Amino acid sequence: AFCLYYYVSNKILFLYPQNFKNFMIKSVIKGYGYYVPENVVTNDDLSKLMTTNDEWITERTGIKERRHRKNRNDSEETTAVFAKRASEKALEKAGLTAKDIDFIVFATLSPDYYFPGSGVLLQDLLGCDTIGALDVRNQCSGFVYAMSVADAFIKSGTYKNILVVGAEIHSFGLDFSDEGRGVSVIFGDGAGAVILSATEDENEEGILAINLHSEGKYAEELAVKFGGTKYGWSDRLLTEPEAVTKDMLYPLMNGNFVFKHAVTRFPESLMEALNKAGKKPEDLDMFIPHQANLRISQFVQQKMGLPDDKVYNNIQKYGNTTAASIPIALCEALDEGKVKKGDLVCLTAFGSGFTWGSVLFKY
Ligand code: UT7
Repeated sequence: AFCLYYYVSNKILFLYPQNFKNFMIKSVIKGYGYYVPENVVTNDDLSKLMTTNDEWITERTGIKERRHRKNRNDSEETTAVFAKRASEKALEKAGLTAKDIDFIVFATLSPDYYFPGSGVLLQDLLGCDTIGALDVRNQCSGFVYAMSVADAFIKSGTYKNILVVGAEIHSFGLDFSDEGRGVSVIFGDGAGAVILSATEDENEEGILAINLHSEGKYAEELAVKFGGTKYGWSDRLLTEPEAVTKDMLYPLMNGNFVFKHAVTRFPESLMEALNKAGKKPEDLDMFIPHQANLRISQFVQQKMGLPDDKVYNNIQKYGNTTAASIPIALCEALDEGKVKKGDLVCLTAFGSGFTWGSVLFKY
């Protein structure tokens, strides 16, 4: 029996050596960085533009201030430029240069152009070789989806160092009148990046579990409808501008509905990731939820029975920066020493689509 086992295992190893090697490859975060514009917009600043107040915004969302690019229509300060600033910090932290990057995954709902995506612009701005650049369109879950793509490429042995970015500029496309106040007070600008790298270390460090989900029947519960094949294109704006209404042009959100789904999906996805990795909620050192609303994060924390020091929130300072919110929060948690080597961390997001998912890793 032993001879047969020895013969078969050697035969398999001989025929498929790459499978055995790749089985050992894991993705680890080698570097991280973020960028937020200097321009701080407080709740009081917003109350000068629309009928709102600090009390309402703080009580319903936890947000005290957010960052907006200085000039709302500044064509120099674009999403790709924000991403470049975050990426340069991540490269420095990783001790790598742009030439070491094999692939870019760029998550954003606010690209520089309708097409091409911002990934190629980042490739150019950083001076990377002619590597592939993939754009991910999964809104608030964009960074989690982007990490999953990068992780799969690394585990398959295709790439070694992948730049994963979430970057957003919301301030150029929000309705700052009373009609838009339910949405425009929430969102902010910023960018965050990580370098995901291959390792064959046998310790537990690296990405342990991922899950991704969607429920497209709720697409219009949180969407920008215009600029697509359903509601119209530039042509419509030019030929029948009266048919293009404000609720097509600006983000539209059924806030209560989104809230209810979010507080169910966040814990579900977090538990799914923990179960897959054979871990329990008490094993978690840090939970970094997408910064949608402080009330959502607190609700999830309570449901999961997590103590305050195991949930990271910075929405108070930046608002909801959609695809950028998780990487910015991760960077701050690392810089503040709240995530340390060997910690078990879960990144969980929920947002427009609806889409949701988690990435569980050991730092
Ligand atoms: O990023 C991922 C996806 N997004 C989310 O997860 C967001 C989920 N939803 C939410 O966070 C909350 O639903 C909001 C913060 C957006 C809204 O909070 P809410 O408690 O659901 O408020 P509401 O929409 O039910 O509005 C309550 C009232 C309304 O007035 P009436 O009709 O009761 O007289 C609104 O007109 O508050 C009014 N209101 C405001 N008042 C002052 C809405 N926006 C504002 C505002 N300032 N900015």
